[in-house]
Amino acid sequence: MIQKSILWASFMYFFLFSCESLTSEQKAELDRGREVYLTHCVSCHGDKGDGMGGAYPTLIKPEILEAHTARSVTLIKQGSGFEAGMKPIDLTNQEIVEVVNYIQNTWGNKAPFLTEKQIQDIL
Ligand code: HEC
Repeated sequence: MIQKSILWASFMYFFLFSCESLTSEQKAELDRGREVYLTHCVSCHGDKGDGMGGAYPTLIKPEILEAHTARSVTLIKQGSGFEAGMKPIDLTNQEIVEVVNYIQNTWGNKAPFLTEKQIQDIL
């Protein structure tokens, strides 16, 4: 019984957290990130972020979130280093922040917003 209510409580917490509304600054950030995404990423990862068959991976998944930031940034900057992989994309650090915030907070993904400083620390 206790376990059940813990489960329920964490479900409610998650539910409330995921409904939390964004500040207008965060919305503006996501709009800018969307522009970067539509220009540089959509051709492979698709406008719903769900990738393309086996060729290009979906971006909708828990792994994309916080712990995955370093991987996203490195892939954008350096590419995946193999022929059929992701190529380096020439973006400013600010554009990288915007697009990573976008993919981590769209299609049901949810993560804390990053700052340019955090991106610089990764590179
Ligand atoms: C030329 C096609 C192509 C473009 C354009 C592209 N990607 Fe990718 N992306 C890939 C491929 C292929 C992989 C898998 C590479 C790997 O695993 O090393 C990948 C992997 C990723 C991953 C990691 C996914 C995972 O499962 O770990 C992220 C995050 C990502 N891309 C984000 C982006 C963003 C953001 C952009 C735009 C700035 C972008 N990609 C543009 C092809 C592309």
